[in-house]
Amino acid sequence: MTLFKRQIRRRAAASVVAAGALAIVASIAVRAEQGQGGGGRGGMVPMTASTIARNPAAHMGETVSMMAAVEAQLSKTVFTVDQDRTKTGEEILIIAPTLQTPPQANAYVTIQGEVFKFDPAEVAKKARNYTLDLSPELIAKYQGKPAVLATVVVTQALVDIAKRVLPPMTPAELAFRQNMLTIDGGAKALVAGMDQPNPTQLKDTIAGMKKAYTDVEAFFKGRNTEDAIKWAGDSLKIVTDMEAGLAAGKLEVVKAGTTNVRAICAQCHGAHRERQDDGTFRIKSGG
Ligand code: HEC
Repeated sequence: MTLFKRQIRRRAAASVVAAGALAIVASIAVRAEQGQGGGGRGGMVPMTASTIARNPAAHMGETVSMMAAVEAQLSKTVFTVDQDRTKTGEEILIIAPTLQTPPQANAYVTIQGEVFKFDPAEVAKKARNYTLDLSPELIAKYQGKPAVLATVVVTQALVDIAKRVLPPMTPAELAFRQNMLTIDGGAKALVAGMDQPNPTQLKDTIAGMKKAYTDVEAFFKGRNTEDAIKWAGDSLKIVTDMEAGLAAGKLEVVKAGTTNVRAICAQCHGAHRERQDDGTFRIKSGG
């Protein structure tokens, strides 16, 4: 990406915008289509702002990619665009729930998202977890006007300013992640170790998992997350039984535990693991 950026920087300013935006657009198209606005019919359609403004009805529900000039910032997450800087008067409302920084006035940006007829009720339906931050006067002014619920806003500097920036992980989250990696590695090692059981290795693996589950349980106790406390506790009980079984030479207990402990992973992940835009996982916020 850096090399590519350097190459295109040498070209004329206008083509930098065009080529750069296209490249970015291609690389983030998938994200836009999966975006929280979602729900558009079919694939992404390249479109000019004036095409939408001229005949909004024809494009409702379409997921579009359009380059337009920023006209006015109306709130932290809402701005308007026009076809070009000369102001055609055909403005489109852009609602970008995840907007991180305001776009520069008059600058060209590439926007991707779903076209819809502006209505606060529609916004609430399409973008859950987002609170529209427009004044009642502005809501009234734009009611029924063409709008785009944007998941991507790329500037001339090729920065997607609608891309959520993940806060750094806290030490507790990092420790949690490490425990998950221990549990994951342990679960795999147990399966592999069942072919030709090596008591010393099994003992180490189980001890590592036991420590990790103890910490995970404590983490969720600290948050009062009842279902997760139970899943971690159940897992801890399984590996504790495995430990005793191994010590008593009862390999069938270790074998059963190897299966049983894996039956719990997905339940806890379903409730408390959240995939981020960049493909990594985090502990679900508030859970
Ligand atoms: C009590 C809840 C709970 C249980 C049980 C649990 N996990 Fe997790 N796991 C999580 C949460 C929450 C995350 C997301 C946090 C993170 O990735 O840092 C996670 C993340 C992971 C990750 C991703 C780590 C990464 O690189 O981001 C792996 C791999 C994983 N778990 C494997 C397992 C396996 C395998 C099991 C079962 C043998 C298991 N987990 C059981 C809650 C649980």
